[in-house]
Amino acid sequence: MVSEKISSEQAINLEEKYGAHNYHPLPVVLSRGEGVYVWDVDGKRYYDFLSAYSAVNQGHCHPKIIKALTNQAQTLTLTSRAFYNDILGKYEEYITQYFGFDKVLPMNSGAEAVETAIKLCRKYAYEKKGIAENKAEIIVCENNFHGRTTTIISFSNDEDARKNFGPYTAGFIKIEYDNLDALETTLKSFDNIAGFLVEPIQGEAGVYVPSEGYLKKAKELCEKYDVLFIADEVQTGIARTGKLLAVDYENVTPDILILGKALSGGVYPVSAVLANNAIMDVIKPGQHGSTFGGNPLAAAVAIAALKVIKEEDLAKNAEQLGNLFRNEIQKLVNSNGLVKQVRGKGLLNAIIINESEDSSTAWDICLKLRDNGLLAKPTHGNIIRFAPPLVMNEEQLLDCISIIKKTIVEFKL
Ligand SMILES: Cc1ncc(COP(=O)(O)O)c(C=O)c1O
Repeated sequence: MVSEKISSEQAINLEEKYGAHNYHPLPVVLSRGEGVYVWDVDGKRYYDFLSAYSAVNQGHCHPKIIKALTNQAQTLTLTSRAFYNDILGKYEEYITQYFGFDKVLPMNSGAEAVETAIKLCRKYAYEKKGIAENKAEIIVCENNFHGRTTTIISFSNDEDARKNFGPYTAGFIKIEYDNLDALETTLKSFDNIAGFLVEPIQGEAGVYVPSEGYLKKAKELCEKYDVLFIADEVQTGIARTGKLLAVDYENVTPDILILGKALSGGVYPVSAVLANNAIMDVIKPGQHGSTFGGNPLAAAVAIAALKVIKEEDLAKNAEQLGNLFRNEIQKLVNSNGLVKQVRGKGLLNAIIINESEDSSTAWDICLKLRDNGLLAKPTHGNIIRFAPPLVMNEEQLLDCISIIKKTIVEFKL
């Protein structure tokens, strides 16, 4: 049954009928991927300009990652953490040295890793800082996106994500993103702040890049007020923005680092929370975990995926191609009234049509881009995020730029 070939229409109808309607996919049915390309069920080839929301940084089906996956899949896939296995420790050593932290706590999805960071931050606040029990507050930013659990949506201000999912989890104070005064005022006003949770670039909100120096100053303020700086690099991390981590642009070392998505090159759900001993050691047996977190398959895949980033110098490629991309699209912005702005860092970029939530222009442009062989998806408002795999070469990027330019120039409102 699963190996039978089906048409686009059949595939869409099946999802419509049997799947919960919690997503609104662009109508294209993919059946194969390799590098920067994906193919639909009819064999039409597209540039993937979303990379599964920045999970496929290493390109689709990277041979080294797939080899690690298949080798490990034939050897040992899951032991649970009831027993030791012979690869988790190697992975833990590899990833902690790679990012420069003492310890890692392995999980599966990005949201789980965010939850882990929240628990870690609270426990540290109670046990090491002496904040009164149940009184800890974590500062978060307006328009954040950290995942979909009940606690995480409790501090979202996206009504679609929140409405009718209450009652909400307490313990979060929301401030304006990219506003250091708001951060300092809040830090000064309360003596029960445990942490500041922030995306170095707000991806889902529409690729908002904060002012230069924001992250560095925010970290300094956190140090001054003895509050943990927690960087959610689930989307921005692993070379996406032109450095290994987006915080590297400002030489910031977070107290807690959250990773996911491209940690596996998109072949398996792997996420991680990294911190030094003083913080991580507050977690004791039985206090946190997951059956699949740190399983042998995940460990093998993540080592391979991280190696590819270094071996292929993907951060540098993302930085160089990102500059080229924004320069070229800026010319389009200057000459065409439809696109108001291009912004981003490395290969995490967006074009802004307008900020209105109630027009379908960005969606309609994405349909035309699809017809012209490039897949992208609107984020909030009429903003289109552009995030191709980082294994793209210059020739391919120029080809993509000409598809985008042609689509926008020919687009009729
Ligand atoms: C910054 C950030 N944090 C967390 C998440 C949640 O990750 P996941 O969808 O794997 O739960 C996302 C997903 O887009 C994200 O962009």
